[in-house]
Amino acid sequence: MPRIAVLASGTGSILEALLEAGLPTAVVITDRACAAEDVALARGVPVRRVERASFGPDFDRNAYTCDVVEVLAPYGVSVVAMAGFGTVLGEAIHRAYSGRVLNTHPSLLPAFKGWHAVADALAAGVDETGCTVHVATLEVDDGPVLAQEVVEVLPGETVKTLHERIKRVERRLYPATVRRFLESLEEASA
Ligand code: GAR
Repeated sequence: MPRIAVLASGTGSILEALLEAGLPTAVVITDRACAAEDVALARGVPVRRVERASFGPDFDRNAYTCDVVEVLAPYGVSVVAMAGFGTVLGEAIHRAYSGRVLNTHPSLLPAFKGWHAVADALAAGVDETGCTVHVATLEVDDGPVLAQEVVEVLPGETVKTLHERIKRVERRLYPATVRRFLESLEEASA
């Protein structure tokens, strides 16, 4: 089966689900020190931190993206799976892995794009939200949808409780969808 790289910045619970599902993961890339690094190392997966030097207006997104592409190159992965990666990447990643950069997002896209998807859904008073697995494009939280699942918003819900229930679904839906995607790549190259 083709191999993947996982890009993560947070607690790494989605990464853990991908590894738990036995997806062939050649490397984990992080942009900062984060718990996801420990998750990868505990399972013997190499971690390469491409440290993001700035979170300000001087951040050079294109140069940073080229660094990520360069670090990824020797691992020979077919697919890049973002799992809570905190940096929006530029064009170079989409050129290098065209149509093969995947993402999971905690809303029913196209609703509630961006980094505050769960808080925004709660603030909008919707009674259901969910998660979306999609092919990532240069446009943030856009691109062809591969899978979606609805999560009901319960009375008295907080961002934390709702996000955790969404993540419970993502931990099942993302690995299954990535696997299906890898199988379809394999079939196409057979
Ligand atoms: C997940 O909910 C993922 O959808 C979200 O970050 C969380 C990562 O959780 N990603 C985005 O919001 C990207 N727009 P984790 O750190 O526990 O794996």
